[in-house]
Amino acid sequence: MSHPSSPAIPRQFIATGPLTGRIRVPGDKSISHRSLMLSALAVGESRVTGLLEGEDVLATAAAMRAMGAQIERQADGEWRIHGVGVGGLMQPRTALDMGNSGTSTRLLMGLLASHALTATFIGDASLSRRPMGRVIEPLSRMGADFTGAPGGTLPLTMRGIAPAVPIEYRLPVASAQVKSAVLLAGLNTPGVTTVIEPVPTRDHSERMLRGFGAELTVEIDEAGARVIRLTGEAELRPQTIVVPGDPSSAAFFVVAALLVPGSDLVIENVGLNPTRAGLFDVLRQMGGAIEEVNRRDVGGEPVADLRVRHSALTGIEVDPAIAPSMIDEFPVLFVAAALAKGRTVTRGLDELRVKESDRIAAMHAALTLVGARVTEAEDGLIIDGSDGEPLSGGNNAAVSTHLDHRIAMSMAMAGLASRHGVTVDDTRPIATSFPTFEALLAGAMGT
Ligand code: S3P
Repeated sequence: MSHPSSPAIPRQFIATGPLTGRIRVPGDKSISHRSLMLSALAVGESRVTGLLEGEDVLATAAAMRAMGAQIERQADGEWRIHGVGVGGLMQPRTALDMGNSGTSTRLLMGLLASHALTATFIGDASLSRRPMGRVIEPLSRMGADFTGAPGGTLPLTMRGIAPAVPIEYRLPVASAQVKSAVLLAGLNTPGVTTVIEPVPTRDHSERMLRGFGAELTVEIDEAGARVIRLTGEAELRPQTIVVPGDPSSAAFFVVAALLVPGSDLVIENVGLNPTRAGLFDVLRQMGGAIEEVNRRDVGGEPVADLRVRHSALTGIEVDPAIAPSMIDEFPVLFVAAALAKGRTVTRGLDELRVKESDRIAAMHAALTLVGARVTEAEDGLIIDGSDGEPLSGGNNAAVSTHLDHRIAMSMAMAGLASRHGVTVDDTRPIATSFPTFEALLAGAMGT
């Protein structure tokens, strides 16, 4: 967990050479959270390899332990989880500290909503500003009760209920976290819980719930929406899970290799679930040389090695329909656009304002500070690229990362494409999702 009282760790990023060789990014964050939660609800021992050992996922592990699951890391990096069975979670004795993690918070609220226990959720300054009304609303309809900060932010106390009431819920925002919260609440709810998803979002919950033996169906209705039905009072069977590499972490190295002249980098084992891989399509449309090698299946998810070479990029209008499949990758796409030839226009990104930071405002400020030409709109950024000219960079002013790991890593990549380097004000948040980031970067640049 990052310690708000410990001092910020600023750092300057600048390219010391092209990115070459082969690297492997850590396990997928979304899949890691879900593998711990579902294993904790299966009866018996599940095994997970490739788990992301970042602070966000460790917050989920600590919470599941606090509610009775046994979770241990073996010396070889495999995780073993003894679950308590659906409905078997115990009352936590202290508040659940979610750190910086929206996924832990929203998915666990769902999971606990259909248990007869009371839990208090707390988090850091960034998480405590993020909207929880979007999960409170459907979970209240299922019978859970919430008290806490006005406006639906942490800290919050939830009183779950068993049996909860199954609902049919049409998602008002495209959010995999809200979808997953309702489905996870449905696990211990009698009857069928239905989520209608007009715009598809990452489907790791659906894939993994099925993998654990839950009865879950997905249909497309006349309007093209996904109708997901989960039969409650499920019995989950323990699994052996291999977590693929996180495309959202690979994204930083893909963009760096495209931008730094002379780069030719292979990123191994990258998850390419179509609900996550939008950035790679957009970068290819911009002219990026990104090749998929050795496409295969890992743990029920499509995976490939990505070979990325330095490329001249051209700005584009990004289709808003692709946004959900690259929702976490816009900060680093903005960096790529700042170096492209011509204008890149992004729209329909209102959700970026409620991530770990307001990513539209934060990236507008950060990129402007380092010499990029950026205009902020209500729902996106318009960027006039430099046509491959390095950004000026620093002037000793540090960019503000606002406790947001993806702002820190994106601006580190901007530093690699700058003349004088870019200083980020705090590198500590990087550990929430990508603890090996700085070491991998140093290795790829041969330093
Ligand atoms: C996630 C869903 C997305 C994403 C987040 C992880 C998940 O959030 O931004 O990093 O694991 O379900 P939203 O559901 O808010 O879009």
